[in-house]
Amino acid sequence: MIHSRIAGLGRYVPEGVLTNADLERMVATSDQWIVDRTGIRERHVAAPHETTSTLALRAARIALGRARLEPEDLDLVIASTTTPDGLFPSVASLVQDGLGARRAGAFDVNAACMGFMSALATATQFIGAGSARRVLVIGAEVLSRIVNWEDRGTCVLFGDGAGALVLEASAFGGPLSFVLHSDGARAKQLYAEGPCGPRDGDGNGPSECYIHMDGPAIFKFAVHAMTEAVRETLASARLGPGDIDLLVPHQANLRIIQGVAKALGLPPERAMVNVQKYGNTSSASIPMALCEAAEEGRLDEGARVALCGFGGGLAWGSMLLEWSTTGVAPEGGGTRGVLAPAHRGGE
Ligand code: COA
Repeated sequence: MIHSRIAGLGRYVPEGVLTNADLERMVATSDQWIVDRTGIRERHVAAPHETTSTLALRAARIALGRARLEPEDLDLVIASTTTPDGLFPSVASLVQDGLGARRAGAFDVNAACMGFMSALATATQFIGAGSARRVLVIGAEVLSRIVNWEDRGTCVLFGDGAGALVLEASAFGGPLSFVLHSDGARAKQLYAEGPCGPRDGDGNGPSECYIHMDGPAIFKFAVHAMTEAVRETLASARLGPGDIDLLVPHQANLRIIQGVAKALGLPPERAMVNVQKYGNTSSASIPMALCEAAEEGRLDEGARVALCGFGGGLAWGSMLLEWSTTGVAPEGGGTRGVLAPAHRGGE
């Protein structure tokens, strides 16, 4: 069986920061309301010249450099986003070009906030089938461009950012099991219209493509759906919640994260939380959180990591990983691992 380990991780957020105090000046809200209901204190917002692909490229270069790989080593680039630079070409193609990954194929996936895990599951299958050895998987968003900045019910929640990882064929480690679910009948609980949507009698589509959301319905759904998805991946790996060393959930709301940890019987500190700094970055949230967990030294060799997510679709799922920085023998005896200093193609 071909395993696939994470050879390098990277993340990038734009420099611009929007605090809760800034939002108090924009809509009828308060720092206390936002912190109490969501745990979010600030989020990053892209500058006018930045796009999803420019953020993605920054994160990708870091991941590639830490993996000590050249762009030509990549067989495939998969990017997950709900906010592509354009309808086409794909963000993955733009990153492939920006890196100079001449041998790599490239395509995007869109499963809203579940997009990154869908992309990672796809990459795992490519490697498991022997169709690719090294796949760059990216989650990147400029959600600030599809947020209605006059709607206090949504604008306080979201932020911009990018996370990336290189998945590489290995002897052991990597994804142990995953589940992906969808219930398209609940599409209207969380959606953003696009330029190709239905026309009215005069032939006009929506003038603005904003995020619409039934917050309380999504909240209840999220805790239950993520908890059950983690249980499913544990069961198929013949493991239990006590075997989880770190839970890395989609970073949408601190109370949702705490609710999932509690339902699984995990102490709060076993869940990775960085939503306070970035808000909900959709596709980018899980790879950014995983990268930050690795940077903080929270992932030991052999650690079992449970990823879980939910979002528009509605879509939800989980992936169980065995953390290994040594799934492939070091080449040339040097340090090789997810956080090794980036020395080629990195920053
Ligand atoms: N500031 C102040 N008050 C706000 C507010 C804001 N930013 N947004 C909503 N409110 C108000 C509401 O208007 C409502 O007022 P009312 O009681 O007078 O009608 C009150 O706060 C409670 O609103 P409610 O929506 O019931 O709050 P909540 O406790 O459910 O929290 C969310 C709202 C959005 C934080 C919460 O439902 C949530 O996080 N849901 C999940 C959303 C999510 O994760 N989406 C992305 C999925 S990928």
